[in-house]
Amino acid sequence: MNKPLPVVVLISGRGSNLEAILDAIADGELPVEIRAVISNRPNAAGLQRPALLGIRTIVIDHACYASRRAFEAVLQTTIDAFEPDLLVLAGFMRILAPEFVSHYRGRILNIHPSLLPEFPGLNTHQRVLDAGKRESGATVHFVTPEMDGGPAVLQARVPVIVNDDAGLLASRILEQEHRILPMAIRWFAEGRLRLDATGGVIFDGAALKRPRILLPEAQEPT
Ligand code: GRF
Repeated sequence: MNKPLPVVVLISGRGSNLEAILDAIADGELPVEIRAVISNRPNAAGLQRPALLGIRTIVIDHACYASRRAFEAVLQTTIDAFEPDLLVLAGFMRILAPEFVSHYRGRILNIHPSLLPEFPGLNTHQRVLDAGKRESGATVHFVTPEMDGGPAVLQARVPVIVNDDAGLLASRILEQEHRILPMAIRWFAEGRLRLDATGGVIFDGAALKRPRILLPEAQEPT
């Protein structure tokens, strides 16, 4: 068996995506070692579960720094001390400067609750509803300096249904986030997924022109 991939996870809040990663590791489905969980918010609920599991949890409160550059310098030094091969943004709600992102080129994955490139940024679900969309979803993508703009790797589609509101839609999409984030991390850990020198995604040795789509569980072949 290969050595588990060293990973650092950044969060800002609830941490349900982090929990999905931890569950997949516990189930033996994810060959990953979480070396640290770092939150930019001191009261992030998502710090509790890793702490109980004995994983290092660290708070680097962005509000304590005079500038983004100063915050990110400390963040980067802290992350690098753990020597991760992958950085996972699991509900990390700070925009990262190009210098920071470039330092981890090809080694950062993010989860975003829309079908990117549609609806980058915040307040996603309400904007989807306001636009009258009949479908939304979630995307795992490599992070590049452009916010929510890096190449998409894996998506799950979620229909918008009658009488949806932003909260209902968010919770159905969240269920899919919990499926696709561990799956994409597993691909990376298994060496199946990488970014090439030109910024394209390579999956199983071939260029990935479009993100893979994970079908709803009910439609997956048994
Ligand atoms: C998720 O919907 C994620 O896509 C978005 O923020 C939310 C974080 O949820 N960026 P959690 O902290 O993982 O529960």
